[in-house]
Amino acid sequence: MSRITIPEIMAFKNDGQKIAMLTCYDATFAQLLDQAEVPMLLVGDSLGMVYKGEENTLSVTVDEVAYHTKAVARGSQKAHIVADMPFMSYHGSEKDAVINAGKLLQAGAQSVKLEGGKAIVPMIKKMVDAGIPVMGHIGLMPQKVHMMGGFKVQGKDKAGQEQILEDAQALVSAGVFGMVLEGIPSDVAQEVTQSVPVPTIGIGAGSACDGQVLVIYDLLGFNQNFRPKFVKTYFEGGNAIQEACQNYVNDVVSGTFPSEKYSFKNSNRKS
Ligand code: KIV
Repeated sequence: MSRITIPEIMAFKNDGQKIAMLTCYDATFAQLLDQAEVPMLLVGDSLGMVYKGEENTLSVTVDEVAYHTKAVARGSQKAHIVADMPFMSYHGSEKDAVINAGKLLQAGAQSVKLEGGKAIVPMIKKMVDAGIPVMGHIGLMPQKVHMMGGFKVQGKDKAGQEQILEDAQALVSAGVFGMVLEGIPSDVAQEVTQSVPVPTIGIGAGSACDGQVLVIYDLLGFNQNFRPKFVKTYFEGGNAIQEACQNYVNDVVSGTFPSEKYSFKNSNRKS
């Protein structure tokens, strides 16, 4: 079975077909999401927060993203896999950027995603020249958390909006096949979407984008303490998992698990 290709993803925009993307970090979820026909899986550096329990994404390494990408590639057959290039993996030199992106493709991704606009055009051009498909990511860029003073909506004033529009055009000129628009007002996302020939995938960027992406643990309601405004929770998974595990603990403590049904019999034993 062949995976969804870059030309197919680009064609979605021309055909007016919305694109659903979800983050994914392991083989079990990859299999489930593939069966649910999610066309694009993102091995996001959000794994630093939801998987490793860090406060932000800055500690994530290329080796960690490669490790999770391998698992996602093993678990899925059809979805297009985008791997995030972590903080400092594409900022030092164009050569480092290409080598690190290559590692992620060798781990099983079909493309990589980088945060930034005009400033990273030379890196993107080199990757595209090397045959590495690149997705951009502008607006709220979690790798710039300290510059932004937190995870804050971007593009609320005129200067911010112009910056986002300029960055979007710069990414197109560098050769990206799509871009994530994170944490920006809906009308700004709409303007970007109408002004670029490649699909825009929004997160906290309104409904005008060509597609949407969510962190899978958010969609499944795993985080009960923090629910951002832009997240729709499709399943109260946090409650369901806690309840199931509590039931298991109660069964073990009371001795009702394992019952005969879950135990092996010795057929040679004479009673
Ligand atoms: O790392 C990630 O999960 C992301 C999405 C939130 C777009 O970049």
